[in-house]
Amino acid sequence: MSQLRPVRIFDTTLRDGEQSPGASMNLTEKLEIAQALVQLGVDIIEAGFPIASPGDFESVAAIAREVRGTTVCGLARCNDGDIDRAWEALRAADQPRIHVFLATSAIHREFKLRMTEDEVVARAVAGVRRARGLCADVEFSPEDAARTEIDFLCRVVEAVIDAGATTVNIPDTVGYATPTQMHGVIAALRARVPNIDRAVISVHCHDDLGLAVANSLAAVEAGAGQVECTINGIGERAGNCSLEEVVMALRTRCDTYGCATGINTRRLVPTSRLVATITGIRVPRNKAIVGRNAFAHEAGIHQDGMLKERRTYEIMRPEDVGLEKTDLVLGKHSGRAALADRARSLGYQLSPEQLQTLFDRFKALADRKKEIYDGDIAALCETQFAALPEQFSFAGYTLSCASGAIPTVELRVLHDGVAEAVTITAGDGPVDGIFLAIEKLTGIVTTCRDFRVQAVTVGKDAQAEVTVELEHGGELHRGRGVSTDSLEASAKAFLAAVNRIALGPSPRIHPQRV
Ligand code: KIV
Ligand code: ZN
Repeated sequence: MSQLRPVRIFDTTLRDGEQSPGASMNLTEKLEIAQALVQLGVDIIEAGFPIASPGDFESVAAIAREVRGTTVCGLARCNDGDIDRAWEALRAADQPRIHVFLATSAIHREFKLRMTEDEVVARAVAGVRRARGLCADVEFSPEDAARTEIDFLCRVVEAVIDAGATTVNIPDTVGYATPTQMHGVIAALRARVPNIDRAVISVHCHDDLGLAVANSLAAVEAGAGQVECTINGIGERAGNCSLEEVVMALRTRCDTYGCATGINTRRLVPTSRLVATITGIRVPRNKAIVGRNAFAHEAGIHQDGMLKERRTYEIMRPEDVGLEKTDLVLGKHSGRAALADRARSLGYQLSPEQLQTLFDRFKALADRKKEIYDGDIAALCETQFAALPEQFSFAGYTLSCASGAIPTVELRVLHDGVAEAVTITAGDGPVDGIFLAIEKLTGIVTTCRDFRVQAVTVGKDAQAEVTVELEHGGELHRGRGVSTDSLEASAKAFLAAVNRIALGPSPRIHPQRV
């Protein structure tokens, strides 16, 4: 086979992905995701927008200090304050990159910036020069490039490359482009910008019309050398180009694209699960590559074909994306080695102490549930190891309730390790009763905006997984709880969200709103 052209994968889960409503993450969670992205093999991690808040600055700085072996990038608007702050956060990185952006489309120039074309070019050049004075690796994004007049876009791109930009990113900020158009924009830049060979062309697509992956692939086909994307496609509004989809499309159809990425595709599913757990944004069952049904064949004709030759209905092997097919079910008598082996093959690398804790919780679960499936083990790992520090932890409840009657709930928690309890008679059902008891006990009053229950695995004794979204102080806070008892799972989910509130949010500037 002829030589494949390398395409860089720029992951912006921690920046654009975090702009999904309700997806804000704390420092520990961001570091955990950053380390998972390194293992996944991404080329660039966009760690955040340092000027946005002290919390964003701290997380970019921590990722810059601790993450090795990949480029760490921070976003900045095109002004000295943003750029200097980004550099302050990034300077400890092994391979730092400053990402400067400024809108270029007529609608943004006229209504948002109130700047002429000449002023936009001058500001973009000044921003890139300042960034290059600090850092050798500078990316420039003409925001809303896909709606920018092509002549003006070519002019901006040439000017910023002359000023020192090493990557020029073409964002479809509002998800308006089509694949043919995106192909045309990249082809025009390559044909018309005289210094284009001095920079890598990148693409950054949003999914408002469901075209983010298709548009990114069209850009690659036209010669783009970097794709910006997020795990599970999370991001502003309808989200960004999904990393797992674009990577697997390039790999599965390398006959068409002739490109290769450095992604270790076997880490796709574990990374997807980690991001879903931390952000609380669940992956739809039918989501390509990482959805629960992505490799499930239901129709009899398909199953028959698969048994004869899997390639009849399967274009990718599940194991290539990190889904190990297994019929192995663990139970009461399974040992530590079998558990460690299952956890490892599901993508969880555990320290000896973590394995011991997992083993204890596995044994407790096995007393309540006969067969322990992969989903149970994943849920145990995720609720335990992705958990935040807990101010309030669930200790138990006693409930008396009948249909049509107001429930009485006694709720017991450990508050910073000290046992506390409250009893109330209130609510229009047991879940509401538990919710009100938690409010009374913690003193944190919230509005429940979302409450979902689903089974982790199959069978009547399957564990229930509850996810909640609570509104407090104008912000949404997520929580997740898992148990064979759905009321216990609900209490744990409410308490997890309350613990997030107790940790306290930090105010931030939103890149699209400045
Ligand atoms: O969508 C967008 O335009 C962005 C830029 C900041 C690159 O996220
Ligand atoms: Zn974006």
